[in-house]
Amino acid sequence: MSDIIAQLEAKRAEAMLGGGQKRIDSQHAKGKLTARERIEILLDEDSFEEIDMYVEHNCVDFGMEKTRIAGDGVVTGSGTINGRLVFVFSQDFTVFGGSLSERHAEKICKVLDNAMKVGAPVIGINDSGGARIQEGVASLGGYADVFQKNVLASGVIPQLSLIMGPCAGGAVYSPAMTDFIFMVKDSSYMFVTGPDVVKTVTNEIVTQEELGGAVTHTTKTSVADVAYENDIEALLAARDFIDFMPLSNREEVPERPTADPWDRLEDSLDTLIPDNANQPYDMHEVIRKMVDEGDFFEVQPSHAGNIICGFGRMEGATVGVVANQPMVLAGCLDINASKKAARFVRYCDAFNIPIVTLVDVPGFLPGTSQEHNGIIKHGAKLLFAYAEATVPKITIITRKAYGGAYDVMASKHLRGDLNYAWPTAEIAVMGAKGAVEIIFRGKTPDEIAERTAEYEARFANPFIAAQKGFIDEVIMPHSTRRRVALGLRKLRNKQLENPWKKHDNIPL
Ligand code: HXC
Repeated sequence: MSDIIAQLEAKRAEAMLGGGQKRIDSQHAKGKLTARERIEILLDEDSFEEIDMYVEHNCVDFGMEKTRIAGDGVVTGSGTINGRLVFVFSQDFTVFGGSLSERHAEKICKVLDNAMKVGAPVIGINDSGGARIQEGVASLGGYADVFQKNVLASGVIPQLSLIMGPCAGGAVYSPAMTDFIFMVKDSSYMFVTGPDVVKTVTNEIVTQEELGGAVTHTTKTSVADVAYENDIEALLAARDFIDFMPLSNREEVPERPTADPWDRLEDSLDTLIPDNANQPYDMHEVIRKMVDEGDFFEVQPSHAGNIICGFGRMEGATVGVVANQPMVLAGCLDINASKKAARFVRYCDAFNIPIVTLVDVPGFLPGTSQEHNGIIKHGAKLLFAYAEATVPKITIITRKAYGGAYDVMASKHLRGDLNYAWPTAEIAVMGAKGAVEIIFRGKTPDEIAERTAEYEARFANPFIAAQKGFIDEVIMPHSTRRRVALGLRKLRNKQLENPWKKHDNIPL
C-alpha cells in the first residue's frame, strides 16, 4: 500500500512540474507566473481541487508519441473565491507552449460542463501558442467544441477570461465570447493574425504589443475590459470582481455585510453641479458617494470614457452602474459609448443585477464620422438593451437629459422603475441655444438671447417632466444614496417578463 501511495505521490510531483524546471524558469524570466502559481493566487488558500491531472494527448504524428506530459498543457478544476465556488482552467505554457490539443480541449469542456451543471462561474487563464500544430484538425475541432460550450454557457454562468500570454489566431474567439476579459500589460496579446502575417499581407510593420497588447485592447478595440501591470495584480482583481458576481442566472446577486449606513447623506453632492451648464464635473464622484464604502469596480475604464460602467454595492448587494461622464466629450453618447454600455446593461440583465443609471447627457455626438460609422445602429443597441431589461432600473438625472439620449438612458418610457431627477436637471429636446436658433431662425441676437432665457426658464428644470409623471420625484442630491437604497429594497421582488420569443434581434 505504501508503495502505491509513494508512486502516486511521485506521479503527482511529476505532473506538478509541467514542462519541467527549465521551462518554468523561462516563464518566470518573462515576468509570468506558471499555470499553478496563478491558480494559487486566484483561489482561496488550499481550496483548489484539480481534476484530469493525468490526461495526456493522443497524438502519434511527428514523434509526439514519445513526448507525453501529464495534464497536456492545461490545469483544470474548481475551488473557492472568498468561500464561493468557481471553476477554473489555466493553460500551462511550459507544456507544448500551452497549445490546445484534442484532449486539452476536452479538459476545458469538462470544466464548462461541470460549472453549468451546478451553476458557478468559470475563469479561464489563457497562455497558449494556439492550436497544437502536430494535431492539425483535431485541435481545430477542439477549439470549436470549446466555442460551442462558451456560447451555451453565455448568460447562464459568468465567464471571465484572463489573458496572461499569447492568445492568437482562432484561439482569441473563446475569450471573445466570455463576459469579461482582463489582460496583463507587456506579456499578453490577442490577435487573429500576428505581426509577421500582417507585414506579408499589408506591408505594415507593427509590434505584438501595438497590434494586440493590453493597452491596445483596453483603449482602442474594447476587446478587453481592464489592463493590469502584472499577473498578480490581474489575479487579485479577478478575485474582487468575482465577489460582485452572482454564481449563475438562477441566483440572486451576492450580499455581504457592510458598515456603510444605507441612509448616509452626502451634502457635498448639493454643490457638485457647476453654475455654468457647460462646465464639466466628475461623475465618478457621484458614483463613489452613492455606493457602499465607495467601492466601485469599473469595466473598460480606458475606453469610451464618456460613459462609465461598473459594479458597486448598495446595502451589500451588487448593482450595475451606468453613468454619463461630463468630463469626456461632454458626456455625449457616441458609437463606442453605446456599444460599451449596451453590452454591460445586457450582462446585468442576464444575471439579475439591478441597474442604476446616472444621466447627464447632451445628446448623441454629431458628425459624419459617427453617422457614417453607424451611430444609428450602434445607438440602437443601448436603447434596445435598456428597453428589454427586466431587472430593477433606477435612473437619476443629475443635469442634462436632451433629445433621443433622454429616452435611451433608462427613461420612464423604457420601463424605468424609479426615475429621479436632481433639482439641477434639464430635460428637453435640445440645449436652449440650439433650440431657439432653430425655432426663431432669422431673429436678432437680442431676440435670440431673450428667447433663450425664456426657453431655459421653461425647460431647464425637471418640473415639466415631473408634471407628466416621467420623473417620479425630484430629489435632493445629498439623499441620492438613501433614495437608491430604498428603491432597490422596494424593487427586490420585482417581477416583469418579456413576451415569449426564441430570442430577440438586437441590432448587432
Ligand atoms: C505545438 C507549440 C505551439 C503550437 C508553441 N509550441 N506553440 N507546440 N503547437 N501551436 C511549443 C514550442 O515548440 C516550444 O516547445 C514551446 O511551445 C514554447 O514555444 P517558443 O516558441 O519557444 O516560445 P516563445 O518564443 O515564447 O513564442 C511563443 C509563440 C510561438 C509566439 C506562441 O511559440 C509561436 O508562434 N507558436 C505558434 C503559434 C501558432 O501559429 N499557433 C497556431 C495558430 S492558429 P519547446 O519544446 O521548445 O519548449 C490557431 C488556430 C486556432 O491557433 C483555430 C481555432 C478556430
